[in-house]
Amino acid sequence: MYSEIDLNKTDINAEPPMEEPARQYFFIEKCRQSVMKMQEDLGRPLTCFIQTFGCQMNARDSEKLLGILQKIGYIPADSQDADFVLYNTCTVRENANLRVYGRLGELGRLKQKNPHMVIALCGCMMQEQEVVKKIQSSYRFVDIILGTFNIFMLAELLDTYWQTKDQVINIWRESGDIVEDLPSQRKYPFKSGVNIMYGCNNFCSYCIVPYVRGRERSRTPDEIECEIRRLVADGVLEVMLLGQNVNSYGKNLENPVSFAQLLRNIEQIDGLERIRFMTPHPKDLSDELIDVMASSEKICNHIHLPLQSGSSRLLKCMNRKYTKEHYLDLVSRIREKIPDVSLTTDIIVGFPGESEEDFEDTLDVVRKAKYDSAYTFIYSRRTGTPAAASTEQVPDDIVHQRFDRLLAVINEISHEVSRRYEKTVQKVLVECKDEHSPGLVTGRMTNNMLVHFPADESAIGQIIPVYLEECRGFYYMGRTKLSLN
Ligand code: SAH
Ligand code: SF4
Ligand code: F3S
Repeated sequence: MYSEIDLNKTDINAEPPMEEPARQYFFIEKCRQSVMKMQEDLGRPLTCFIQTFGCQMNARDSEKLLGILQKIGYIPADSQDADFVLYNTCTVRENANLRVYGRLGELGRLKQKNPHMVIALCGCMMQEQEVVKKIQSSYRFVDIILGTFNIFMLAELLDTYWQTKDQVINIWRESGDIVEDLPSQRKYPFKSGVNIMYGCNNFCSYCIVPYVRGRERSRTPDEIECEIRRLVADGVLEVMLLGQNVNSYGKNLENPVSFAQLLRNIEQIDGLERIRFMTPHPKDLSDELIDVMASSEKICNHIHLPLQSGSSRLLKCMNRKYTKEHYLDLVSRIREKIPDVSLTTDIIVGFPGESEEDFEDTLDVVRKAKYDSAYTFIYSRRTGTPAAASTEQVPDDIVHQRFDRLLAVINEISHEVSRRYEKTVQKVLVECKDEHSPGLVTGRMTNNMLVHFPADESAIGQIIPVYLEECRGFYYMGRTKLSLN
């Protein structure tokens, strides 16, 4: 465990160890001494800022990266006017990509004012060769570029940068061993993401993730349970188990374990109150998993079940490996055993070749599945994916019309479905102060919906019963017993 490694005993003049994570602790200590020296020279602390784009995987990676930076001695800052700025990028859709370029210009200007500033880029965009070429040629002020497979090397690469003062690029084309036991700085003291697996083997034809995150690798149940026990001892009540397709968890382990079995083990951990997971693929969501959820006290009442399209024809082109009928049958099996479950989904509009009939099928599934909410995306062409080569791209105006029609149907249904808890008392994990209304806090129900209600800040991090007074679309306004009196 990392806390057992005593940084003060590290001799930074010796050769760096070859084995991990000892090697990274060596470089963390080496960088820490450089930071201390710079602080003395400048007469002020050095600050860091991480901007995270993309999904929960990236959010979790950013916590690990912040853990390393803090161990090195950087103090977290609220803005990118800092001494170390890191963008953890996403490339799932083109606009995620464009946002990064948009913000890089501003970073370049900040760096001109602060010669100590180090600028680093990591994450999924950096696994694309074209992107790295563009940064090498047009954004020379970027100091360090690393990919998705070697974020654990941040300290080593920072040290290389300080030694060479030249742009450091270290991108792996595929994953090496999973390096465990490095520091991590959680965003919330009371909840945490936990990676149960990395990568994806599904190759949905529109999706770039398998190319930038590599093949599926599962962590062992022991490693996962150990991490969760540590988190619980440190005050965590809720974990979110993370994987691109959690249903295929454990299949390639030396001793294969199903995702349902992993959940059963995690359920046994004393002190853990809530378990969430993201994302299950509909093609192999097992009855065993439905049964485990139905009988569990801790697994939250929510399944995010990405549909992508309601047309069997299009699902085939997408390489999703299920049909409209299979999906709807799965939804009824889930609802039969977990009647109160909240279902949410992801839908892509305008996949190449999408006809009006295909789109009507999507609307049909939306009406039948009755989602609590849905994330809708306009299809984005990702270079290197099979769908990008299709000559049947749907014209923009048709895509936008369909997108608006879909949103209207989703909103109508989800407003109806979401209000089913009105005038009931539900348990809420309080997460933060309500940013918009002083005196209110914001918490999350087990079905993942947000509730705003009057309470003191001291309620943050606690699970408390809240009376849900009024549903306002995607959230509730509530009261606690105390505020009812
Ligand atoms: N592994 C998850 C999804 C990860 S990406 C799953 O299989 O469900 C998150 C969502 O982004 C996807 O569900 C999909 O709806 C969307 N997405 C992925 N690639 C896209 C693309 N090229 N254009 C538009 N949306 C896309
Ligand atoms: Fe992408 Fe499909 Fe893998 Fe999800 S399952 S990450 S959509 S390839
Ligand atoms: Fe984006 Fe990478 Fe996640 S592409 S959605 S950050 S896995």
